[in-house]
Amino acid sequence: MRHAGGVPDDLTRLRALRTPAGQRATARAADLLAGGAEVLAGLTRLRAEVGAELAGPAWELARLRARARPVFGADADVLLLTADTLEQAGRPALAARRAARLRVAGSDAADLGCASGTDAIALARAGAAVVAVDRDPVARELTAANAAALGLADRVTVVDADVVDLVAAAEGGTVAGCRAAVLDPARRAGGRRRLDPDRWSPPWPTVAALLDGVPRAVVKVAPGLDHARVPEGVEAEWVSAGGTVVEALLWGRGVSTAWRRASLVHGDAVLELTADEDPGSAPTGPVGTWLHEPDPAVIRSGLVALVAADLGATLVDPTIAYLTSDAPAASPWVASYRVDAVLPFHLKRLRALLRARGVGRVVVKKRGSAIEPEQLARQLRGPGDGSATVVVTRVAGRPTALVCGVDPSR
Ligand SMILES: C[S@@+](CC[C@H](N)C(=O)[O-])C[C@H]1O[C@@H](n2cnc3c(N)ncnc32)[C@H](O)[C@@H]1O
Repeated sequence: MRHAGGVPDDLTRLRALRTPAGQRATARAADLLAGGAEVLAGLTRLRAEVGAELAGPAWELARLRARARPVFGADADVLLLTADTLEQAGRPALAARRAARLRVAGSDAADLGCASGTDAIALARAGAAVVAVDRDPVARELTAANAAALGLADRVTVVDADVVDLVAAAEGGTVAGCRAAVLDPARRAGGRRRLDPDRWSPPWPTVAALLDGVPRAVVKVAPGLDHARVPEGVEAEWVSAGGTVVEALLWGRGVSTAWRRASLVHGDAVLELTADEDPGSAPTGPVGTWLHEPDPAVIRSGLVALVAADLGATLVDPTIAYLTSDAPAASPWVASYRVDAVLPFHLKRLRALLRARGVGRVVVKKRGSAIEPEQLARQLRGPGDGSATVVVTRVAGRPTALVCGVDPSR
């Protein structure tokens, strides 16, 4: 199959990579990459060894597999990927966690929009008979190839269908003939994020209909989803790793067990914090000896009040998610900073204070302020050997700088 210009299309390239010659070419490309070959030299050599048709696609696949390896582990070495599907792929460990919570062992499960098959593979590994749906032929080719490469072909059926139609036809708690479902709408188009859920693919009405019609369903949504969108009785979960939210999920009513959940990937474990109802806002109080920055999953899930109660901490301002207390906190849910000085935000005064304390290098953090952290850090740079963290925020409504963790020795 070729386009008019004679350039092999994506499917032709992917199929060529699955042949024995394609696999040898990809293995050779991986060797060259591992040996530190530069693109131009590596490709030239590969072209000479395997031919021009295979060299480019094999090089690209080897590069994508190397990029996938830290997150996908050994699976990455056999997965068929495109740059697009790798960018859209979730973390396999979290896909496995979702599959386990859906209790799919011995059941059937639909992956509604499978891309390169991360969820389909996790569901199959959890013991489900999977129906993997995508309207994109490249996605279907990838999912079928990846299920086969991982020895799961007999548990994954790949189907060409429109998820909008399948969900509209859902009945008796099933969709695509399955009692459990994962929906991960595409939230990017043309390399840009689509913030409006009505512009996801499939769009919000399909998300809402799935959550209404299929109790054992989970939908991946944008971390910034407005809480007002979360349907009644549906649990919303935010998952963070390394200080950023890595996914947000809406759980169907058959698997929801909380109002909101914040989850934190902590080494091999996942820590969880749940509330059965809105815990409201934490109380506000004066800035104490410690400032605590809640994990973003806690902030996004609206559970700051739970962490505040646990730490005996208060908010520095009713509208800002910074907590403060006089006791230090040993909690995975916050990053803590010792407060050394609190002053109204004023560049000259701040600079003078830092100089007086021998601080020459600062890290600037902000919340509820329009300042640009890197620019302010440059403006505050000085001759001193010390370091500090400067937090620019609002305290009781006023723009305030908190100078934290001053270390004069570094
Ligand atoms: C974000 S990706 C899924 C990523 C996948 N869960 C993973 O972790 O690798 C969304 C997929 O849904 C597919 N898709 C979007 N709208 C669709 C529709 N209406 N019907 C079928 N597939 C659709 C896209 O082609 C894309 O492959």
